[in-house]
Amino acid sequence: MYKFKTLIEPFKIKSMEPIQLNSYEHRKKVLKEARLNLFLVPAKEVIIDLLTDSGTGAMSADQWAALMKGDESYSGSESFYRFQKSVQDITGMPYVLPTHQGRSAERILFHTLPLKGEYVVSNTLFDTTRANAEDLGFKVLDMPCSEFYQAQSEFGFKGNINLLSLEKVLHHKSVACVVLTITNNSAGGQPVSMENIKSTSILCKKYNVPLVLDACRFAENTYFIKTREKGYRDQSPLEISRKIFDQVDLCFVSAKKDGLAHIGGFICLRNEQWSEECKKRLLISEGFPTYGGLAGRDLEAIALGLKEALNESYLQYRISSVEYLHGNLRKIGIPLVLPAGGHAVYIDAKAALPSIPVSAYPAQSFSVGLYEFSGVRTCEIGSVMFGKELENGEPVFHNQELVRLALPRRVYTFSHLDYVCEAVEAFMKEKASSLRGVRIVHAPPVLRHFSAHFEWL
Ligand code: F0G
Repeated sequence: MYKFKTLIEPFKIKSMEPIQLNSYEHRKKVLKEARLNLFLVPAKEVIIDLLTDSGTGAMSADQWAALMKGDESYSGSESFYRFQKSVQDITGMPYVLPTHQGRSAERILFHTLPLKGEYVVSNTLFDTTRANAEDLGFKVLDMPCSEFYQAQSEFGFKGNINLLSLEKVLHHKSVACVVLTITNNSAGGQPVSMENIKSTSILCKKYNVPLVLDACRFAENTYFIKTREKGYRDQSPLEISRKIFDQVDLCFVSAKKDGLAHIGGFICLRNEQWSEECKKRLLISEGFPTYGGLAGRDLEAIALGLKEALNESYLQYRISSVEYLHGNLRKIGIPLVLPAGGHAVYIDAKAALPSIPVSAYPAQSFSVGLYEFSGVRTCEIGSVMFGKELENGEPVFHNQELVRLALPRRVYTFSHLDYVCEAVEAFMKEKASSLRGVRIVHAPPVLRHFSAHFEWL
């Protein structure tokens, strides 16, 4: 049978949202008003928005139709039972608690579980997870596998946790829980292999430490296992997902990613006692446990979205579109985290802008400069997000300076991605060498990337 080479989006556009084009001069003004912080730029001033893949996806016609079935009863809503069944079918876990988004699930878990130990250990925690763990008094240890630090390595599971370091820490330190983030967002959107998940589970059982999954991109991780790991090619994404969830004690999920919804999250547990404890806190901060801060219609959207995210042709398109952008940027010599991740392409800003020292925030400079040049909004994942200022005013820098180009699900076409690629190429040729970096003029102590102010040097 003839095999087509052209990639197409496996959907048609039923309802379109116009993009407002704008000029370089206009963006310069916008950026100045936003104090060189892309989180403070109004969305209408953005031509292609790759700030995040979270809550920014396009819902399907079936999801929009399901909104009308939303049962808005305060307790025992029909929508909750449909949501619960969908989550149970995928995770195999009996206790399901909705939350208004991922970070509230994190907070409830860290606050409520009887975690005995000082450290939360992870392949890499996402920034809100880290902030919640630290805020509640835990110390955080990130230990991605050694391949992750080899920028040029094409190892297919760079999101893995370093098992040797994990065992050492479990042996010598008092560990409250181990969190595996799939895919590993802060470490290049790289997947975690089934083998690594299973080995982590064995170690956690040996040391009697709970294994928690941050599973917001579980479907994308599943597709990588299917296509890259031996023995899974003939299994469906749903079957592989179940095998992942089977390894862990509990999970928290932001439904704004592979839930294909605009808002929402949930916690799943196997332990009834823990579930009851979490429910008590849920009542205080989120709402009754059958809605958890969400409208019935949101629960309907998530119930369907989770299933659509496991559709094989959707996943093939999803991962291929990230690979398409990655491959085209690589062809024109842009330094990238290798290989392509599941939801985003990560530019290595230290290598792209070698004349800007880390103290002048190369990734922030790149993302701000690229927006000004092209209207493409990206996200800094470097020393602004993960660095800090010590009490004596001394800055601490992160070991990586990445610019994340996160692709919203089912939103942009391949021609939008061509525009992004051209934007990066032209920016590198015409603008990059004139940049001197930025300095921080104002920053709050926690999650400073959301609201810090900067100036060009
Ligand atoms: N865990 C991971 C791995 C995430 O990527 C996020 C959010 C969360 C937890 C928190 O979920 O936003 O629903 O509260 N990531 C978004 C991003 C914000 O841009 O990567 P949330």
